[in-house]
Amino acid sequence: MALITKKIKGTEDVLPKDSYRWQFVEDIMRRESQSYGFKEIRTPVFEHTELFARGVGQTTDVVQKEMYTFNTKGGESVTLRPEGTAGAARAVLEHALDNEGLPIKASYFVSCYRYEKPQAGRLREFHQFGLEEYGTQSPIADAELICAAQSIFDRLGVRQLRLEINSIGCPVCRAEYHSALKEYFEGHKDELCDTCISRLDKNPMRILDCKSPVCSAIAKDAPKIIDYLCDECKEHFASVRTYLDAAGVRYEVNPTIVRGLDYYTKTVFEFVTDFIGAQGTVCGGGRYDGLIEELGGKHLPSLGFAMGIERLLMLMDKQGIEIPKPSGCDLYVATMGENAVVRAFEIIKSVRDCGLVAETDVVGRGLRAQMKYADKIGAKFALVLGENEIEQGFASVKNMKSGEQTQLALNDTFAEKFSVLQLAYSDSFKL
Ligand code: HAM
Repeated sequence: MALITKKIKGTEDVLPKDSYRWQFVEDIMRRESQSYGFKEIRTPVFEHTELFARGVGQTTDVVQKEMYTFNTKGGESVTLRPEGTAGAARAVLEHALDNEGLPIKASYFVSCYRYEKPQAGRLREFHQFGLEEYGTQSPIADAELICAAQSIFDRLGVRQLRLEINSIGCPVCRAEYHSALKEYFEGHKDELCDTCISRLDKNPMRILDCKSPVCSAIAKDAPKIIDYLCDECKEHFASVRTYLDAAGVRYEVNPTIVRGLDYYTKTVFEFVTDFIGAQGTVCGGGRYDGLIEELGGKHLPSLGFAMGIERLLMLMDKQGIEIPKPSGCDLYVATMGENAVVRAFEIIKSVRDCGLVAETDVVGRGLRAQMKYADKIGAKFALVLGENEIEQGFASVKNMKSGEQTQLALNDTFAEKFSVLQLAYSDSFKL
C-alpha cells in the first residue's frame, strides 16, 4: 500500500541510528553553558502572534514573510515560534525573574518554524541552541557570551569558523544613520522590490538584509552603521574588542552585519563557515537593550545568541569530525525453550538495574538468528540460555570480540558478577 503521506517539505526526521549525534552536541552545549552560569528555560512552541510582531519587528522578513500563523478555534492569532529570543524574554517578564537578582542567564533548545525556501542548511522546521542574558550593559557580558559560543565550537572540534562582529548602535546613532540610508536607497527606488520600497520610510535598515539579488546588490554600497556610531556605542564596541582580545578570541570586524531581526542594538556577531554552502551562518546573536521595554517591561539591557543545530551537524560532518557512538548492548541473552525465555527476562531486568544495557529476543528468532542479531547490534557479551543451563544453574557468558567464555552462576548475584566482568572488559577495551 502506498504511504498515505510523507514528511512536510523543509522538515527532517532524526532516526534512532543518528540521534546520538544530536545528543552528543546537545550534551556539550548543556555542559559548557552551565560552566558559564546559564540554566535552561523551556517555553511554549507557540505564542501570541503579537509577541513576534513586536519583538522580532513588523518590517523583518521573518514577520512579513516567514511566520506560521493561524487562528485558534477561540479566534486568537497564534504563531509557531520562528526563533527563541522573544519567547524567553516574554517568560522572563511574565515571571518577573528580574526580581530574583541580575543578571538572569537562560539557555534553551528550541524547534523553530520559518516558511523559507528550503535548501541545504535552510529548513522550515529547524533547531536552535541559544543563550540569553538579561540585565547587564557591560561589554564584559558581550565578550563572555561570544566566548561561550566559541568554547562550544572548540569542544566540538569545529574548525575554520569565522567570527564576524559589528556594532549597529543604539536609537541615538540610528536616527542619523536611517536618514543616510533612506537618502541612499531613495536613489535606487525604481530597482527595489515592493517589500523594500515599503521599508524605506518605516525601517530602511531592513533593506540591508533583503534576500532578493537586486536589493542585496544595491545594499552592498549603502552607508555603514559603524561610521555613524555615537561616542557611547563606539566606546562599548571598543571595550568588547578589548575583552575578546584578552580572551584570545579571534574575530574580524564586518561592517555589513546588521542581522535580520529588529531587536538588536550595539554588538552583533555571527560565526560563519564556507564548508556548508550558501547558508554558512552557524550562529548569530547580539545585544538587544530595548527588547524587554518593547514587550512592556522596564529597561533591561540584554544579549544572546542562537546556533542552528542542523547547520552545526552538517559542518561537523563535512569536516569529518567523529562523534563517539554510544556503547550499545552490554549483554544479549539468547534463549532456547519457554523456561529460558522467562529466566532471560529476569536476567536482563537485573542487568539493566545495574545500569547496563541488556537485550533478549522479542521477535521469535531461532538460536542462530539470535546470535547473528547480537553480533549485528554490537553486543559485547552473549549468554545462551537453554534447559541445561537452567537445570545446572550455570551458564557461560561469551565475550563476542575475543570468543572467551566465563561461567557465571544463574543466581541473585549474576548481575553483579556480570557488571564486574563487563567493567574489566571495558578497561581492557580502552587500553
Ligand atoms: P538567526 O540568525 O535568525 O537568529 O538564527 C540563528 C541561527 O539559527 C542561524 O545562525 C542558523 O544557524 C539557524 N537558522 C536560522 N534559520 C534557519 C533555517 N531556516 N534553517 C536552518 N537553520 C536556521 C535568531 O534566531 C536570534 N533569535 C538569535 C539570538 C538569540 N539573538 C539574540 N539571542
